[in-house]
Amino acid sequence: MSPASETLLVLCAVSAAAGVLRARIPDKPRAPVEGQRGKDAVWVPTPPALVEKMLDMARVTATDYVIDLGSGDGRTVIAAAMRGARALGVEYDPALVEVSRRDAARAGVADLAKFVQGDLYEADVTGATVLLLFLQPENLRMLSAKLMALKPGTRIVTNRFEIEGAEPDEIGRIGGDSPSCCTAVLYVVPAAAFHAGVRAAE
Ligand SMILES: C[S@@+](CC[C@H](N)C(=O)[O-])C[C@H]1O[C@@H](n2cnc3c(N)ncnc32)[C@H](O)[C@@H]1O
Repeated sequence: MSPASETLLVLCAVSAAAGVLRARIPDKPRAPVEGQRGKDAVWVPTPPALVEKMLDMARVTATDYVIDLGSGDGRTVIAAAMRGARALGVEYDPALVEVSRRDAARAGVADLAKFVQGDLYEADVTGATVLLLFLQPENLRMLSAKLMALKPGTRIVTNRFEIEGAEPDEIGRIGGDSPSCCTAVLYVVPAAAFHAGVRAAE
């Protein structure tokens, strides 16, 4: 075989190997499908207008550290970062985490909006000043002890579902007819003395 044919053969082999690799490693994350199954809750995104309403109700500013447990495609975390807040999304589905990181970079807030792949029940939320939750009632029930142990003054905003046994500080509504809008519920974690007072009064 001539040196020219040998070179051509090597180039063909390299190109074929690159083709196989390209086929195995997708160059963009798998697009999520609304209603797709998640570990403990399905993925249904909060509509953008309700995301803004939730951030308004929590009065999110650049001084906040915002956490979304079950952060989906990262939209709430990115929106909080757009207001200058540090924000963290905890999401079990690695493809959604990938979408979130890509969108945070596209929005220019990758330095403020971080995402971890993990289980929301195991996440450390003690440093949060704001928690955003769009989860099912049973998820909220399982989280409630952890939520009420947060620092007094921490704002928790849920999309649609209420936290059993807790009294909302505000209920906000926007117009719309999708099931994932149009109600947000704000809770401000009370001081420990409040809990003690309630227990004493019982
Ligand atoms: C209703 S979606 C809310 C998405 C996002 N927070 C929003 O408001 O647009 C719930 C999300 O929780 C995620 N999820 C379910 N179980 C989880 C778990 N155990 N740990 C982390 N994420 C979980 C799902 O994959 C899904 O993305």
